[in-house]
Amino acid sequence: LIYLDHHAATPLAPSVADASARAHEHAWANPASVHAAGRAARSLVEQTRRTLGEQLGAAPNDFVFTSGGTEACNLAVLGLAGRARHVIASALEHPAVLAPLRALTARGAELELLPLEAAEPPSPESLARALRDDTAVVALQWVNHETGAIAPVAEYAKICRARAVPLLVDASQAIGKLDCDLSRLDASAVVITASKIGGPTGAAALWVERGRELAPTLHGGAQERGRRAGTPDVAALAGFGAALAQLPDRLASMAQIGARRDQLERACVELGGVVNRSRARVNTVTNLSLRGWRGDVLVAALDVEGLCASSGAACSSGLGAPSPVLQALYPDEPWRAESALRLSLGPETSEDEVAAAIAALRRVLARRA
Ligand SMILES: Cc1ncc(COP(=O)(O)O)c(C=O)c1O
Repeated sequence: LIYLDHHAATPLAPSVADASARAHEHAWANPASVHAAGRAARSLVEQTRRTLGEQLGAAPNDFVFTSGGTEACNLAVLGLAGRARHVIASALEHPAVLAPLRALTARGAELELLPLEAAEPPSPESLARALRDDTAVVALQWVNHETGAIAPVAEYAKICRARAVPLLVDASQAIGKLDCDLSRLDASAVVITASKIGGPTGAAALWVERGRELAPTLHGGAQERGRRAGTPDVAALAGFGAALAQLPDRLASMAQIGARRDQLERACVELGGVVNRSRARVNTVTNLSLRGWRGDVLVAALDVEGLCASSGAACSSGLGAPSPVLQALYPDEPWRAESALRLSLGPETSEDEVAAAIAALRRVLARRA
């Protein structure tokens, strides 16, 4: 199998799988229990919290563990927004952010989506213009899951801080691809997802600045300092910790990943692909449109060839609907969203796999030549 869908989920490094397996064996108890078995489980959870703090330049206790990126995004949006009158985002956001924002509009809030000019993430100027005295939260991602576009989040943060409006940064696709130091970002909340950095699915963290009120979305026990009720998945969190410990190695591999992505992209362009990209982007992805094809048909044909790819966000796959991100970026060129193919790479992607992926794409496209 050739796996080029690292933006959906990353393969588990052996140390991650080991850490989770050991936790299943030795730390299956409830980490809230006060006895020795509970303490063993709790110590793994707290070790991951410390590793998060060390790797991301933040205080361990300012992280709230959740059952994945979607829950962390929901907790941030709904927990920060309160009885919001006005909220700001862009059409580039993942559904995990946009859907809870839209839920707020059902309760009377106004959702303002910033304009996207020349297929770029929203400009800081457009954010400054949109902020109002009654803006309750701004939610803007760091790196786009489909095109890899890098947004000017530090500038967004400065603008929001000056107006005392909390900024939520969905960093799910930025951690492990860019140097992410939360102490320098000055956001109010940041989402980190284990399954994008070599960790297991079903584990994530929401960082919230000290003193910022966060209303829980799950009601129950007092876990996570009252901010997220429920017994956590200790084995997933143990794996998350092992993945976080490898962040420096992951970052060090980005240059090599970029070279392989460029090689893959050049070949795809020779085969007729048109690249969907912004000026600044991460090294792990190429997003192409192959006019005349339907993205989901292409993905299915590549799957038969043993190549795992996607036509957009994994959570929207199977719906057959064109990517809302590409529709928003290229409103006058609907064929781009309809025929999109996302190929995303990781440290494990070898040169042989890139060559095999190109051969698979060539075979599929030749059927229509
Ligand atoms: C940018 C972004 N935010 C949020 C999520 C949701 O994370 P999860 O799949 O862990 O719920 C994803 C997952 O692909 C993502 O890419």
